[in-house]
Amino acid sequence: MSSIAERYNRSADAYLGWWGPILEPTALGVLDLVSSSIPGDGTGVRLLDIGTGTGTLAIAAAERWTAAQITGVDGSTGMLAVARREARRRLGRPGERLDFVAGLADRMPFADASFDVAVSSFVLQLVPHRPRALGEALRVLRPGGVLAFVTWLASDIPFAPDEAFDDVLDELGIADPDEPEEARAGDFASVAAAAAQIRRAGFREVSAREQLLVHRYEPATYLDFLEHYAERTTFAGLDEATARDVRAWTAERLARLEPDAFVWRAPVVSVRARHPAG
Ligand SMILES: C[S@@+](CC[C@H](N)C(=O)[O-])C[C@H]1O[C@@H](n2cnc3c(N)ncnc32)[C@H](O)[C@@H]1O
Repeated sequence: MSSIAERYNRSADAYLGWWGPILEPTALGVLDLVSSSIPGDGTGVRLLDIGTGTGTLAIAAAERWTAAQITGVDGSTGMLAVARREARRRLGRPGERLDFVAGLADRMPFADASFDVAVSSFVLQLVPHRPRALGEALRVLRPGGVLAFVTWLASDIPFAPDEAFDDVLDELGIADPDEPEEARAGDFASVAAAAAQIRRAGFREVSAREQLLVHRYEPATYLDFLEHYAERTTFAGLDEATARDVRAWTAERLARLEPDAFVWRAPVVSVRARHPAG
């Protein structure tokens, strides 16, 4: 199992509670990008969500296109278990029209031309080899099928709450936790680079645009977000007395920040493209 899959297995419930809701409004924009290719209730349309995670796009697509056949694929069985649970909670018994399948983006367990539409949100930065994953998306799409996704653009916009936390770790002499090396493609350097890579993978009619994901964190719960999601590995490596100091020092620093300092801004790129033989 890859270290990325292990990481998501360990944090699936925390992802659903803390991180998924932050990404969701931007992720859902991907469904708007493919809506012109999905008539009416989606009868006859087979849609694939690559790296479905806790099912954000797959479940929303099943709610939006009630007759479409939807599949979510992911490398983490822990995330898939949460996705199945969420699907039951939100859709009751979706039956055979919504399926969650274990598999890697660069080796998907589907026959050629199995899908009319492929979508993905916040995954293509994580795959070890992006051209291979894009090649797989092309392979499983039917001629003329549509791909749309959103992922991060490289950015160095500072975020004061994280800087405050890093300062506390520095002052207490706490090193970053040793985590296994993750082979990942990383964020796209620019919108033009993203579009060029999609074209090189063989897609046509490529359109790509930059957006800003803006999220206002609650100052009162930011420390909980760090402890239970973003910095959980750091906290897990601390003894109780040190963890208490980190909490207290961080809380004190965060209290000095204006509420607007908790508005996080991160650039993303949204892409829509078409399988060429259509
Ligand atoms: C940041 S989450 C995004 C989940 C969901 N799409 C969303 O928008 O909330 C990334 C997901 O990609 C999955 N993932 C990472 N690398 C993968 C790969 N090579 N193949 C399949 N899934 C992968 C992870 O297991 C995780 O569920």
